[in-house]
Amino acid sequence: MTANAVLRAAIARLRAGGIEDAALDARLLLAHALGIAQDRLTLHLPEVMSAAQGLAYEQAIAARLARQPVAQIIGQRQFWGLSFRVTRDTLDPRPDTETLVAEALKSPFQTMLDLGTGTGCILLSCLHSMPQAQGLGVDLSPAALAVAESNAAALGLTARADFRPSDWFSNVTGRFDLIVSNPPYIAADEMPTLAPEVRDWEPHLALTPGGDGLGPYHILAREAPAHLTGQGRLLVEIGPTQGQAVAALFAAAGLHDIRILPDMDGRDRVVTTTMG
Ligand SMILES: C[S@@+](CC[C@H](N)C(=O)[O-])C[C@H]1O[C@@H](n2cnc3c(N)ncnc32)[C@H](O)[C@@H]1O
Repeated sequence: MTANAVLRAAIARLRAGGIEDAALDARLLLAHALGIAQDRLTLHLPEVMSAAQGLAYEQAIAARLARQPVAQIIGQRQFWGLSFRVTRDTLDPRPDTETLVAEALKSPFQTMLDLGTGTGCILLSCLHSMPQAQGLGVDLSPAALAVAESNAAALGLTARADFRPSDWFSNVTGRFDLIVSNPPYIAADEMPTLAPEVRDWEPHLALTPGGDGLGPYHILAREAPAHLTGQGRLLVEIGPTQGQAVAALFAAAGLHDIRILPDMDGRDRVVTTTMG
């Protein structure tokens, strides 16, 4: 069968299976099965698929019907214009998180700490855009750290990016010009309401700290001041309803210039603050 016929059948199956972006997902997965770039797909649609390509596509469509996210199936995600490896051990980097990266890059820094680094997308995007800077990424998950290390290698950033297991600051010493974190922040009672792609496939360690979701911000507020340089900055991603609560925690910790910033959709997404 031609790739075109296989694609049409796959779109119909995904639609019937309740997948919202059936056409887009089917195309992304087909490009992956054919081993070609997504923007080359149309050129290849009239060609007959090999048995191996057909099998690879069937497996990918079956995984998508089981609600596995496309990024996990193809094993990569574009973020900040860069390509990141994604596995079941890492959060799939979200476009909203680019708001934090954009804000981090507004002022220069030499040293940077990323708490809960996951794929390393925040740390590595910042280092890629700040060629003199050095960074440390920590995570509680050794499997996530292995993915972050492979992403650093693929981006040629190994010499400037270190990774280390740590429960937030427990294994971190020294001071940094910039501390960033996109911690797990979903409240325990919101977990059942998440899409199956998130709830059933992404690591719960990356999604929720339990309780009201604010636990990591208490730790960040309490411990960040001892790890920031004189004019150092702390930037955190938040859930859209958490801005005031997180700002209050930072104010109580004696931090300055506290601002709540929106993402591209206008929802509160980042809280920034400084030492000085
Ligand atoms: C929301 S994900 C963010 C991942 C990545 N920074 C991003 O923005 O895509 C939160 C990360 O925090 C990590 N994490 C959870 N609890 C932690 C802890 N106590 N100490 C360090 N990292 C933790 C998770 O393993 C996960 O990688």
